[in-house]
Amino acid sequence: MTNQPSPEERASQLQALADEAAICTRCDLSGGRTNVVFGYGDPDADLMIVGEGPGRHEDEQGLPFVGRSGQLLDQLLGEIDLRREDNVYIGNVVKCRPPGNRDPRQDEIDTCKSYLREQLRLIDPKVVVTLGNFSSKLLLRTETGITKLRGRAYEWWGRFLVPTFHPAAALRGSARVLEEMRSDFGLVADVVAGRLQLEEPVASSDAPPEPPPEPVVVAEPAFDQLGLFR
Ligand code: URA
Repeated sequence: MTNQPSPEERASQLQALADEAAICTRCDLSGGRTNVVFGYGDPDADLMIVGEGPGRHEDEQGLPFVGRSGQLLDQLLGEIDLRREDNVYIGNVVKCRPPGNRDPRQDEIDTCKSYLREQLRLIDPKVVVTLGNFSSKLLLRTETGITKLRGRAYEWWGRFLVPTFHPAAALRGSARVLEEMRSDFGLVADVVAGRLQLEEPVASSDAPPEPPPEPVVVAEPAFDQLGLFR
């Protein structure tokens, strides 16, 4: 028995939240936006991906990850047999584009984070992937940077969280960044396929109140897994 609302109820609550966000003026980012980029995908997804914030293309289209970073994200998803419209939901830490693509400020993140929290509660994914420093630090409540955080699955409020680089870092950086992202997505594939399970799965009908102070490392990729995509 669970108190979780049905998938239809969750989809409709998610839509109500998106409607609320569409007219949000809680912070100054609202003044410069073309569209609120609330999120996209399957409200019943096993995998929820959390980026940083919309860029120019996302602001114009009102959809997350539709530029070059999004193409790379789709490629990485495809390599583990996932597609953004099917069992995947994509959102961001802030829902409106920071001017000139600057980093979101802490006050903007704090103002916006209740939307993300509600998205996580309603979608209730098996695994959350955080892309880059902003989402990883926010959800894992840490000041540790992504280079140190990545490479592991963490147990996070009765589910897994896999932090990895932002695709923009792979586009800018070395082939190694991309290989490391592939290795991290290998962990995601393991969770989605049920090859990696929590010792004591927790029925999560409630929103994560706050992430735990110290994330618990539950899985690291096996060495042979690193070669999977070579
Ligand atoms: N980068 C992000 O973090 N989010 C997007 O939606 C697009 C690019």
